[in-house]
Amino acid sequence: MRTHRTILMPLSAADLDEVGALYGDEAVMEFVDGGVRTREQTKSALAAAERCWRAEGWGLWAIRDATTGGLIGEAGLQHLFDVEGATVDFGFTIARRFWNEGYSTEAGHVILSDTWERYPGDLIHAVTHPDNRASEAILLKLGFRLVEDRLIHGETQHLWEIQRTR
Ligand SMILES: CC(C)(COP(=O)(O)OP(=O)(O)OC[C@H]1O[C@@H](n2cnc3c(N)ncnc32)[C@H](O)[C@@H]1OP(=O)(O)O)[C@@H](O)C(=O)NCCC(=O)NCCS
Repeated sequence: MRTHRTILMPLSAADLDEVGALYGDEAVMEFVDGGVRTREQTKSALAAAERCWRAEGWGLWAIRDATTGGLIGEAGLQHLFDVEGATVDFGFTIARRFWNEGYSTEAGHVILSDTWERYPGDLIHAVTHPDNRASEAILLKLGFRLVEDRLIHGETQHLWEIQRTR
């Protein structure tokens, strides 16, 4: 898929070097469950992303600069485990140098709209750390609503949802 400034492609093992740098950045991973990831953990995450695309037909997208091809970040849907009543999570991870330039907003609308075409369920959730104001701003812009605070993996988190409208 394309947006004005980006090209979106299913996230895969081929993205390892760039995603490894993204998931290895402490500032990026500050509010992400589990924190920074080693290269091996990123390798496993990318293998899981590929399996999800093959098995479900939906998943995470690599967001790349349409001009340079460089990785801006990733976003999309993934399985959510251990959260009662919520089975999938819509999330974003953008490289620090691209923050606050509207990339999540731009890619998020296109990815969410496409996800509804692929995902058969009627409800999509998102989980954010209460201090993560930027992710809150994005989710509100995409139409998510805050459901409640939940204790997830030992930390209080915001649980969000959006319902299918079409
Ligand atoms: C959260 C994140 C995905 C946002 O991506 P982004 O491309 O910078 O987002 P955008 O530029 O499209 O929009 C950022 C919005 O957050 C707002 N924002 C940023 N920092 C903020 C803060 N400290 N307080 C309040 N709002 C803030 C911006 O004003 C903007 O909203 P606006 O367009 O209404 O003004 C990015 O910061 C990131 O990858 N963070 C690390 C990983 C992470 O925490 N992911 C979220 C897990 S769901």
